[in-house]
Amino acid sequence: MADEVTVQKARFSDRVRIRSILGRPDGGAGFAGQKVRISGWVKTGREQGKGAFAFLEVNDGSCPANLQVMVDASVSDLTKLVATGTCVTVDGCLKIPPEGKGTKQKVELSVVEVIDVGTVDTATYPIPKTKLTLERLREFPHLRSRTNSISAIARIRHALAIATHTFFDEEGFLYIQTPIITTSDCEGAGEMFQVTTLISHTEKLERDLIENPPPTEADVEAARLIVKARGEAVAHLKSAKASKETITASVAELNEAKASLSRTEERSKLKPGLPKLDGKIDYTQDFFGRQAFLTVSGQLQVETYACGLSDVYTFGPTFRAENSHTSRHLAEFWMVEPELAFADLEDDMNCAEAYVRYMCKWLLEKRYDDMELMAKNFDKGCIDRLKLVASTPFGRLTYTKAIELLEEAVGKGKEFVNPVEWGIDLASEHERYLTEVVFQKPLIVYNYPKGIKAFYMRLNDDGKTVAAMDVLVPKVGELIGGSQREERIDVIMERIEEMGLPVEPYEWYLDLRRYGTAKHSGFGLGFERMVLFATGMDNIRDVIPFPRYPGRADL
Ligand code: 4AD
Ligand code: MG
Repeated sequence: MADEVTVQKARFSDRVRIRSILGRPDGGAGFAGQKVRISGWVKTGREQGKGAFAFLEVNDGSCPANLQVMVDASVSDLTKLVATGTCVTVDGCLKIPPEGKGTKQKVELSVVEVIDVGTVDTATYPIPKTKLTLERLREFPHLRSRTNSISAIARIRHALAIATHTFFDEEGFLYIQTPIITTSDCEGAGEMFQVTTLISHTEKLERDLIENPPPTEADVEAARLIVKARGEAVAHLKSAKASKETITASVAELNEAKASLSRTEERSKLKPGLPKLDGKIDYTQDFFGRQAFLTVSGQLQVETYACGLSDVYTFGPTFRAENSHTSRHLAEFWMVEPELAFADLEDDMNCAEAYVRYMCKWLLEKRYDDMELMAKNFDKGCIDRLKLVASTPFGRLTYTKAIELLEEAVGKGKEFVNPVEWGIDLASEHERYLTEVVFQKPLIVYNYPKGIKAFYMRLNDDGKTVAAMDVLVPKVGELIGGSQREERIDVIMERIEEMGLPVEPYEWYLDLRRYGTAKHSGFGLGFERMVLFATGMDNIRDVIPFPRYPGRADL
């Protein structure tokens, strides 16, 4: 039975989104008979009936499904419409397609008028109808959003971001924007990108010095002599009681000569190369008057707000200059970092688990169609995995127990590249073995040896381990890293010393412990790792719009 509902227009243009038509339980059939304007890019087009009409599969990015569009040769020149990649805006009438064509479409658009066409040079268009590999698509970061897979991932990323803000908002957390440019090194690992204008300034200066060589000592001397002569001239005029105007004019000339001397002296000191002080680069001359970097984590800064506003989170880009060429690492990635005041490690783990499970439920509810596409094209099991995670509690075990399990596996003949013993940093192969083989679900490993973790993690009573936790998930390995923070000023001072870190840069961080210190905990979720986990994609470079990794930073 025909539905009475009128198809919804996009509010800020005169078109109807394809999702508004096809994304209904009846596949849009209830809109049959309604006139709409749609816009989008042609996925495939074919002329039929010896050129009497054409069928276009049009996609506008609002959903994975294409709208089938039928254009009669009497309406438009069909040849300019059918090429893959062509952009069309058309007015037409929605119709139930004739039965028996084997089409899954519940509705199609019969075009009345072609409003706009953005043609494509098929000889050079790099995204053809036939599928390109994901590797090849990375060569076209400016065009790959036209493909089914990359656009589905973009919608899933969006959904995960909205789920993130919704979850934390519902739980009473405030969204805090932490700085991207920082002067502290959170993870203490020294894998930071430097932010500086010294290099470009030096290059500019060196070019300038070649074009306008700096004044020589003789030039400076000559400028000095002019000042001297003009000084004498002023003195002479004064003693000769010259008119006021004459003296004023002469003083002006003297001042001009002085200014010119100081400019000449200043320029004569210019030297090529970076500014140095005591043999080291002089960062007091840099943009911020000190060395600055791109942040590796917003944690330290967001802690300042947690210790004042209680529950907060930050969600922003983070940067690591590690030379990793793996399918799990990027040089620029996004991190979600909640910080919970008055919370211990267990509260932290509970929050992490609830958040990840919330995102999985959200995707199943909001982007099922995109998840179906991922299941069809990339990973059969991705929907079941989301369902499992949404419904099953995570495993939890101590680091010590994890090592025991790994040693047991080695005893039974399992081979790892990296040897297993208490004290090692778990390698990706160990993490994946635990989550994929032993537990077959996400798990949280906690209480790691202090030697492999950051200075800010709270020392446990055993004096050997810290209250750290990592969430490990199938396909990805480490998804989250977090900890209870060391709130005791004496203990954290000792840890900083023990690790050979300088105290001075962390004074402000220590102040949080000196003044009204509070038990608090937090974690960081690698957003792209979450997208990998949800979609089942293999390479992290395909789940961020513009991947940055060693040797590559397109656009
Ligand atoms: O374990 P990490 O290094 O923890 C921190 O940075 C803490 N300061 C977070 C906190 O407690 N607020 O990084 C957190 C997560 C990792 O678990 C991983 O998912 C992701 O960030 N990550 C990366 N993702 C992509 N590319 C990289 N190079 C990554 N490095 C870490
Ligand atoms: Mg980590």
